[in-house]
Amino acid sequence: MTADKQTILVLFGGRSAEHEISILSAQFIVASLDRERFEPLLVGIDREGRWRRQDVNYLASLTPSAQNIKLDEEGALVMMAPMPTSSSRAGLLLTIEGDRVVQREPFDAAFPVLHGPMGEDGTVQGLFELASVPYVGCGVAASAATMDKVLLKQVLAQSGIPVVLQQVLSRSDYERDAGSCIDRCKVLGFPVYVKPANMGSSLGISKVDSRDALPRAIDKALKYDDKIVIEQGLSNSREIEVSVLGNEDPIASVPGEICVEHADGFYSYAAKYIDADGARLEVPANLSEQQMQAVKEVAIDAFVALGCSGMGRVDLFLTAGGDIFINEINAIPGFTAISMYPQLIAASGITAGELVTQLIDLALSRHLRRAALKTRR
Ligand SMILES: Nc1ncnc2c1ncn2[C@@H]1O[C@H](COP(=O)(O)OP(=O)(O)O)[C@@H](O)[C@H]1O
Ligand SMILES: [Mg+2]
Repeated sequence: MTADKQTILVLFGGRSAEHEISILSAQFIVASLDRERFEPLLVGIDREGRWRRQDVNYLASLTPSAQNIKLDEEGALVMMAPMPTSSSRAGLLLTIEGDRVVQREPFDAAFPVLHGPMGEDGTVQGLFELASVPYVGCGVAASAATMDKVLLKQVLAQSGIPVVLQQVLSRSDYERDAGSCIDRCKVLGFPVYVKPANMGSSLGISKVDSRDALPRAIDKALKYDDKIVIEQGLSNSREIEVSVLGNEDPIASVPGEICVEHADGFYSYAAKYIDADGARLEVPANLSEQQMQAVKEVAIDAFVALGCSGMGRVDLFLTAGGDIFINEINAIPGFTAISMYPQLIAASGITAGELVTQLIDLALSRHLRRAALKTRR
């Protein structure tokens, strides 16, 4: 009976470079949705930022070959009412024809499945806050801070959680005095990693082995952002990832490992998406019991320090000497059938169906708790 079911707005696609991955993530989430309790309401955001109604069967029919992964461009144009509605349901999706609203579809909660800028960074989360819609995952501040590599490391360092040394460079600093900016990086030694502050998928990232190669890497990163980071590179370290699930009292999955086998020598865009043999995911990671515990603990500490909620994939480096450094937290991690986040959760005994239900329940309970807060004297 539809009346008893909760309708979940699943929002995917988006304007970032991770558009296709987002579609595949949404496909897996919708396939895993418990249809006894939930009804999906699908919206795809196209590359220009337009919202289009999508069909469940169409999404399910996509197969993961690069040409095939597209939104249904015939889907009706829709938008979400950006303010609380008078209905008993949380949100309202409006279908637009010309300048007329031709359909109103209420829903109960939203599941943003958008990777990268304009989706994972607090922008869409802000829209849900304005509309008083419960939504899966991190809130505005945690989304913005986890997306920004500078803010993330500042918050972690303040909380006593180890991060690698970095220098922050703004475009204006660099244009004013490139020489002294490059000099500032001396303390880091080589190799260094040069990265745009707000990106994902390793876009704009270079591994740099010498001072001469720095300007080119800086120019490349500045194509993606006005603020970039230059980080001390860790050699011979292992890349470990942990899935964290929960609100105030989160749990950590068994850790997994990314074993990079690509000539780029790091988990580059090509190693992630182009070369099928570029990297191997090892689930669970081959760690001692003690290493496993240490990694889980630091992942939870990082999640809590950032004020994350719902989910987060915490990526870290484990050095040969046993030191742990947090690299990043993905607030909306890849969520395809073969992605690390759901795989690690599954290896910890929680099926994809249970995971999606728990994430929605976490969104609803967080919303209720926040709605009970005082907003005036
Ligand atoms: N400080 C570092 N030391 C060693 N390798 C690094 C370092 N920073 C990044 N890398 C490599 O570059 C990859 C991409 O960097 P990351 O910061 O995770 O960017 P993205 O957000 O695009 O995933 C990492 O997965 C890792 O392989
Ligand atoms: Mg990464």
